[in-house]
Amino acid sequence: MDLLIKNGTIVTAESTFKADIAVKDGKIITVGQDIEPLKGTEVVDAQGKLVLPGAIDGHTHLAMPFGGTISSDDYYTGTKSAACGGTTTVFDFVLQGKGENMLDAIKRRDALAAPDAAVDYSFHVGVCDVTTPELLDSMEDAVKYGIPSFKVFMVYDFGVDDGAFYQVLQKAAKIGALVGVHAENRDVNNVLVKQYLAEGKTDAWWHYMAKNEDVEGEADVRAINLAKMAGTSLYIVHLADKQGVEAVAQARDEGYPIFAETCPQYLHFTNEVYKRERGRDFVCSPPMKGQESQDAIWAAIKAGDIATIATDHCPFTQAEKDWGITTKDGKPGNFTTIPNGCAGVENMYPYVLSEANKGRITFNKAVELCASNPAKLFGLDHLKGGITPGLDADIVIYDPEKNVTIANSEMHGNLDHTIWEGVEVKGYPVATYSRGNLVYKDGEFLGQKGAGKLIKCKPIKLTGPKL
Ligand code: URP
Ligand code: ZN
Ligand code: ZN
Ligand code: ZN
Repeated sequence: MDLLIKNGTIVTAESTFKADIAVKDGKIITVGQDIEPLKGTEVVDAQGKLVLPGAIDGHTHLAMPFGGTISSDDYYTGTKSAACGGTTTVFDFVLQGKGENMLDAIKRRDALAAPDAAVDYSFHVGVCDVTTPELLDSMEDAVKYGIPSFKVFMVYDFGVDDGAFYQVLQKAAKIGALVGVHAENRDVNNVLVKQYLAEGKTDAWWHYMAKNEDVEGEADVRAINLAKMAGTSLYIVHLADKQGVEAVAQARDEGYPIFAETCPQYLHFTNEVYKRERGRDFVCSPPMKGQESQDAIWAAIKAGDIATIATDHCPFTQAEKDWGITTKDGKPGNFTTIPNGCAGVENMYPYVLSEANKGRITFNKAVELCASNPAKLFGLDHLKGGITPGLDADIVIYDPEKNVTIANSEMHGNLDHTIWEGVEVKGYPVATYSRGNLVYKDGEFLGQKGAGKLIKCKPIKLTGPKL
């Protein structure tokens, strides 16, 4: 036994109980009462603390070329930041190039991630080109390699049309893969953008207006219909609107394997942020919506219709966000010239756990949304997402009494601001272990660049709404 965490209150998705955790060679070997240390075992006293599985952030964009620049966190700073917020696994996006085989795309990206990642990581493949049978078939090579999840974009110029989306869904059903979707109506968005710009409406509020509730909701409904037609499961990423929430709940009630992810920014902020002086810092896609949508998302969390919370971490500096005022070429900017995305990988678990600590949801629910459900959905529950013998010792010690006001100066990523500045959280992680190694303690990162490894996931076959 290398490590013994004693006297803590263990919280899993299913239960809460006092027990000790013994760890050897990076794995949890025993969970039980009054475990005695051996000679040389490091003993950690977790009296008064909660002991949780590390979070699995199913949605990050590290070192991502996007919006005319590259997101500011690379695989080192992004995973370092994750560790300091209690997240021990991140799923990053590989964007397939035109004509690129999916497996080649994964390997190209892993060459960047492997030397840098400080916690474990895996990938979803962002599908951009299935114009030949070979490219579509290469999804199967990815699944065999251990990367069984994909994402299609219904927006952006690199996104796919409904025909390609449908083919990806059909393929996924055959090979044991999960398709995630960024659902927004591209055509309506483009029309609204043109109209607003012609009317001189250029600030961040119009980013929200051009991607309003209906623009997202229509695409959510269409995506669900396409999945039903293809007879397969679907994972709607960063769900942020009421119509979509209702469509997901209805499909699930009908027995369809439809799953949704939402993000902390949609749970905490509304479209009001776009009226702030630096509203452009909050520009992300989909944008924050009105209060009604936020209320619907929280209600769906309680009803069990939201499967996961993930961050969509995609940080850009304030100078880059300022391209909404003056572009990098010195031309007048507008809401379309602001790189889309916000940071959050260090804030997700503290924020969701804080909402639990304040009584809005249970701690078990927080663990389910942030750790065990992503593990089940993405095919890595044989390794992660719980506190059970045999699983990786990805463990967070959480102090429910430690209150923190979030400040960018205390964050560990590579960014000059945070949309979470000034937000008060009740309780905070005080230690994070990644496969038994202490990677974070009391505000300090203690991990190592390159220590994280690529997690190979099982094929994914979801036939109903239960995980
Ligand atoms: O604004 C966002 N979300 N940027 C990252 C790309 C995406 O759509 O997920
Ligand atoms: Zn997206
Ligand atoms: Zn329901
Ligand atoms: Zn994203």
